[in-house]
Amino acid sequence: MNRRIYNFSAGPAILPAEVLEKAQAELLSFGGIGMSVMEVSHRSKYFAPVLEAAEKGVRELLNVPENYRILFLQGGASLQFSMVPLNFLKTAADYVVTGAWGEKAVKEAKKCGRVNVILSTKDSGYKSMPAPDELNFSADADYVHYCSNETIDGVEFKYDLDGKGIPVVCDASSNILSKPIDIEKYALIYAGAQKNIGPSGVTLVIVRDDLLEKVPENQFSMLDYRALAAQDSMLNTPNTWGIYLVSLVCEWLKEKGGVAAMAKINEEKAKIIYDAIDRSDGFYRGHADQPARSLMNVTFRLPSEELEKQFVTEAAASGLDGLKGHRSVGGIRASVYNAFPVEGAHALVDFMRDFTQRNG
Ligand SMILES: Cc1ncc(COP(=O)(O)O)c(C=O)c1O
Repeated sequence: MNRRIYNFSAGPAILPAEVLEKAQAELLSFGGIGMSVMEVSHRSKYFAPVLEAAEKGVRELLNVPENYRILFLQGGASLQFSMVPLNFLKTAADYVVTGAWGEKAVKEAKKCGRVNVILSTKDSGYKSMPAPDELNFSADADYVHYCSNETIDGVEFKYDLDGKGIPVVCDASSNILSKPIDIEKYALIYAGAQKNIGPSGVTLVIVRDDLLEKVPENQFSMLDYRALAAQDSMLNTPNTWGIYLVSLVCEWLKEKGGVAAMAKINEEKAKIIYDAIDRSDGFYRGHADQPARSLMNVTFRLPSEELEKQFVTEAAASGLDGLKGHRSVGGIRASVYNAFPVEGAHALVDFMRDFTQRNG
C-alpha cells in the first residue's frame, strides 16, 4: 500500500512524491545503464552529470553568482558549526543567537577562539527577531554568524542580514530554497539537506571564493573548504544517492516555478495554520511573536501537556504525523516545508477545530 499521510516532521522531512516516484522508477537502472545511481563510481561518467545537475539546480534556483562555489558535504549542518570557526575564526567572531541551533553553533565556536554573542534572545525565550539596527558588530570580527530560521523555536529572520563589511555566515538549514534570498549578502551559507533540499547525509555549502583563500594552511583535508572546493566536493566519496535526490528536488522546484513561487505557497500554508491559532480564543498559543513567526516551523502550545500529548496521538491516528514539538521545548510543531501540500495545512486546521470542540 502506498498511502501517503500528511508528514509534519521537522527533518528528515517530507520529500515531493514526484521525486520519490522518479527515484523509484530509476532505482534498478539509472538512465538505462543497468545499475542504480548508488552502484556507480562517483568519478564515473554516469555520476558526473548528476553532480553537475545538483550544482546547477541550486545555482539557478538561488541565483548564485559565479564567484561562489556550491559544495555537497557530509557531517550535517552540525559539522559546519565546527568547520566555520576552524577555518575562519582568527581573532574573534560575532554570533547572533535567536534559538537553540544558534546556541549550539556558539558552543563549538568557543572551542576555536573568541566569540562575541552580540545579541541573544534566550532570556525572553527565543520568541523574537532583532531589527537590523539592533545589531552592532565588533570591529575585530572575522565573521558574523546567524541562523536564518530556528527550527526548534519556530522563529525566522525576514531579511538577509547585512554584515556591513563583515563576512556573513548563515545556517539556513530549515529555510533554504523556501524563498528568494540575496546571496551576495552572504560569504557562506550552509544547510543540512534533510528539510528542503533532499535526504539527510548531504550538507549544502555555498561559499564565496575570497573566503576560500582564508582557509589556514595545513588544515585537515576533510575540514578544508578550499580542498573540498578544489575537488568539486569529491575529496572522498560523497553521498552520491543524496546528491542525486538533491538534483531531482531542484528539478521539481524549477517545474513548480522556483523559489519565488514557493515563497507564495509557503506564506499561504503558514497563514492557514497561524490564523487557526489566532482564532482559537487562546486554546492554541503560538510560541513566536507575530513578526518573528517562521513560515517553515509553526510552534504552538495547548492549555496543558496532557492535552498536547493527546493532540499528537489523535492527530497521528488521523493521518497527521510528526507534530510533536522538539524534546527541549515541548508543545506542538507543524513543519510545512516546500514539499508539504496546502491541503495538509487545511487538514491540520480541521483537526485543530475538531480537537477544540471536544476538549476546549
Ligand atoms: C537550523 C538547524 N541547524 C542545524 C541543524 C543540525 O543539522 P544536522 O542534524 O544536519 O547536523 C538542524 C537540524 O535540525 C537545524 O534545524
